[in-house]
Amino acid sequence: MSKTIIISNRLPVQLQISDGGLSAIPSVGGLATGMKSVHSGDDSLWIGWSGLTDEDIPNILEPQIDHALRELNCSKVRLNKSDIEGYYFGFSNRTIWPLFHYFLEYSEFELDFWESYKAVNQKFADAIIEAADEDDIIWVHDYQLLLVPEMVKAKRPNATIGFFLHIPFPSYEIFRTLPWREHILRGLLGADLIGFHTYDYERHFLSSVRRLLGLDVSFNDIYLEDRVIKVDSFPMGIDYHKFSEAAKKSIALQGKHRSDLQKKLDEHKRSAPGTKLIVSIDRLDYSKGIAKRINAFEYFLNKYPEYKEKVRLIILAVPSRSNVPQYQLLKREIDELVGRINGELSTVNWTPIWYFYRSLPFENLIDLYTSSDIAWLTPLRDGMNLVAKEYIATRTDKTGVLILSEMAGSANEMNEALLINPNNFEEQADTLKQAITMPKEEQMARNMFLQKRLQRYNVEVWANEFMNSLKSQRKAVGTFV
Ligand code: UDP
Ligand code: G6P
Repeated sequence: MSKTIIISNRLPVQLQISDGGLSAIPSVGGLATGMKSVHSGDDSLWIGWSGLTDEDIPNILEPQIDHALRELNCSKVRLNKSDIEGYYFGFSNRTIWPLFHYFLEYSEFELDFWESYKAVNQKFADAIIEAADEDDIIWVHDYQLLLVPEMVKAKRPNATIGFFLHIPFPSYEIFRTLPWREHILRGLLGADLIGFHTYDYERHFLSSVRRLLGLDVSFNDIYLEDRVIKVDSFPMGIDYHKFSEAAKKSIALQGKHRSDLQKKLDEHKRSAPGTKLIVSIDRLDYSKGIAKRINAFEYFLNKYPEYKEKVRLIILAVPSRSNVPQYQLLKREIDELVGRINGELSTVNWTPIWYFYRSLPFENLIDLYTSSDIAWLTPLRDGMNLVAKEYIATRTDKTGVLILSEMAGSANEMNEALLINPNNFEEQADTLKQAITMPKEEQMARNMFLQKRLQRYNVEVWANEFMNSLKSQRKAVGTFV
């Protein structure tokens, strides 16, 4: 029986060693939460980094780690500290991530990072080649592994390889600034199918292929020697059922069975009836526009002072990539902003911002979603933004307002949300007011459409559409060669 091999930088779990024992925590981020729902059963193997480096793993624990991962149909790629420094904290997150999110000034073009990136991509490719049988389908994910398709194709010319990019592909004018731009494009073109979240990212990619490599492109087919490579957009969905069921369960829990966080939220609602809760959830990342959002909140409170003591912003910022200087600077900026605004505006009864810098277990995320009247998500650039979709899926009574940045991929499919430009404070202040005062009937009418769409185009449908397209590409290539 053929299997699907999923490859991403991170496995769905991150291993940790403490007091000599092994533990696993779920990985954070859209790729991990989405693909987790797709990866199940013995017909899929997930290859990736375990979160531990060679230096962290004592020899004695190695068999236990491999066994634990095997139980989850996972297999690890061995990386050492210097790999992680150069490939992960370096090229992936100091070169590609900022560049592809249009933060050109944050992008560092370091030869050492690039060399490490190439070497580690080869390690992933070797792990795939070792694990893959002839009939297997190989599905490579995201910007950390852009060279892997070509590396696998070089050794396995008949392998069926799909690639999906979970972040934006920038316009040609941005992409062309990368010193290794042709290598990156050629790396990707080892795949038979290349998928993006939106048509715009697909268009940008095709334009770079045409202009930088001079290849023939017809509609969404790229002609490369004796191969035809297909490019398409597949907007990623969520496990709708999982989120809506969890929400129903959380709402039904009574008294002492409710989580500590939920009890706090209930208490808040009791003590300040009529106060609106606004939630925002993101990894602490400059692409998410968290600092701008906090500034916009202050602007809103100054423009509409009647809402002081009537609204509260809950910010959940999940620690991310904290070895990268830009993330450290951002952390400091947000700490200071929250401190200043709370210091200046708080009253005896009211703190405008509740700020949490941590990741929360799934049940608590659901508590936050179901308890918040408004979700306010303001990325400056975001490949998709699944949090927007998750919030809507948990609104079982169809109330709740989503304010979403136009710069998120998910905005393309969520027209009934209140879409904003995160750089426009005036518009955001007015939109917050609109959200706070929106009649329940309007909320429900908007969410009905959103929920139907999310339900229909869930993560399983997304994965199936990608896989079916990849399989038909395999057949087409078989007849072409
Ligand atoms: N998430 C999580 N733990 C947290 C907060 C968020 O696992 O404490 C999840 C959240 O449910 C969502 C993902 O992280 O599925 C974030 O995905 P999104 O596409 O919004 O952004 P990304 O982090 O991938 O840039
Ligand atoms: C985004 C990326 C993923 C990444 C995730 C978390 O969703 O597209 O590839 O895994 O962020 O980031 P991290 O660097 O912690 O893996």
